[in-house]
Amino acid sequence: MATTTAAAYGALIASLLLLLVAGAAADDGAALLEVKKSFRNVGNVLYDWSGDDHCSWRGVLCDNVTFAVAALNLSGLNLEGEISPAVGALKSLVSIDLKSNGLTGQIPDEIGDCSSIKTLDLSFNNLDGDIPFSVSKLKHLETLILKNNQLVGAIPSTLSQLPNLKTLDLAQNKLSGEIPRLIYWNEVLQYLGLRGNQLEGILSPDMCQLTGLWYFDVKNNSLTGEIPDTIGNCTSFQVLDLSYNRLTGSIPFNIGFLQVATLSLQGNKFTGPIPSVIGLMQALAVLI
Ligand SMILES: *[C@@H]1O[C@H](CO)[C@@H](O)[C@H](O)[C@H]1NC(C)=O
Ligand SMILES: *[C@@H]1O[C@H](CO)[C@@H](O)[C@H](O)[C@H]1NC(C)=O
Ligand SMILES: *[C@@H]1O[C@H](CO)[C@@H](O)[C@H](O)[C@H]1NC(C)=O
Ligand SMILES: *[C@@H]1O[C@H](CO)[C@@H](O)[C@H](O)[C@H]1NC(C)=O
Repeated sequence: MATTTAAAYGALIASLLLLLVAGAAADDGAALLEVKKSFRNVGNVLYDWSGDDHCSWRGVLCDNVTFAVAALNLSGLNLEGEISPAVGALKSLVSIDLKSNGLTGQIPDEIGDCSSIKTLDLSFNNLDGDIPFSVSKLKHLETLILKNNQLVGAIPSTLSQLPNLKTLDLAQNKLSGEIPRLIYWNEVLQYLGLRGNQLEGILSPDMCQLTGLWYFDVKNNSLTGEIPDTIGNCTSFQVLDLSYNRLTGSIPFNIGFLQVATLSLQGNKFTGPIPSVIGLMQALAVLI
């Protein structure tokens, strides 16, 4: 008797779970249709976005088991229009790639609700406005690529709270203010691309706390002050590009201790002699 009841309950719970899963998946389909509404120029490229089976729609990848949307890849489709706040309803998204379209408007705050996301690539669009603070809620985020847009404002210092962030590429925007010092205390970060913005302030002595970093590029900003003496401790750096800023003072001699493949310092306002140790570097390219 007891076992029959248990079995009945088991069956009931199983069917409830199935209903929940099916419900969640159906919601994802509705959310995708909302997202589509904010895009323009979709006629030719998202024509199959209709009907029930959203997992078969172009650029949509679903989880095999739950049928929830796990990845959205609409890169290089000439999409215009905006990124809908409805994207925040896609809770199971692990990856969003909208690279190389003509998207405008702001990055919606609701992007911070995509709590499973690991990769967010919105590069090569015309997005403007600030980088939303809500991005800092994405604790699984590993790759954030927003380069080649029209983003303004400061780099949110709260990005330093992302424990898994390996790649941060914000190059070729209109970001201003200082590079948040807390960013330098991220031991997981491997790639920091800030080239071609309007960043000011000094290079922090903390920059060599980035013990996992190999790529450091702040070319073509408005950074001032001297290269910190701690530079010799940036031993993991492979690419160090400080060129085309307003850096002054003398080039610290211990920069020659770096094991970098590329070192670019040209286009600054350095004074004093070039440290002779630089001539001994094994680097492939040294530009002073
Ligand atoms: C989903 O199915 C595809 C194709 O059969 C397979 O390659 C992939 O590993 C599966 N993913 C998961 C999470 O089971
Ligand atoms: C998206 O699709 C493009 C073209 O197929 C591919 O090159 C790119 O790696 C994909 N993006 C992701 C995040 O998988
Ligand atoms: C620096 O950025 C400006 C504005 O984007 C651009 O016009 C200029 O060519 C860049 N300079 C270098 C040296 O990259
Ligand atoms: C470089 O790192 C070593 C070991 O962590 C430390 O003792 C030293 O003070 C650092 N040098 C500079 C110039 O920061």
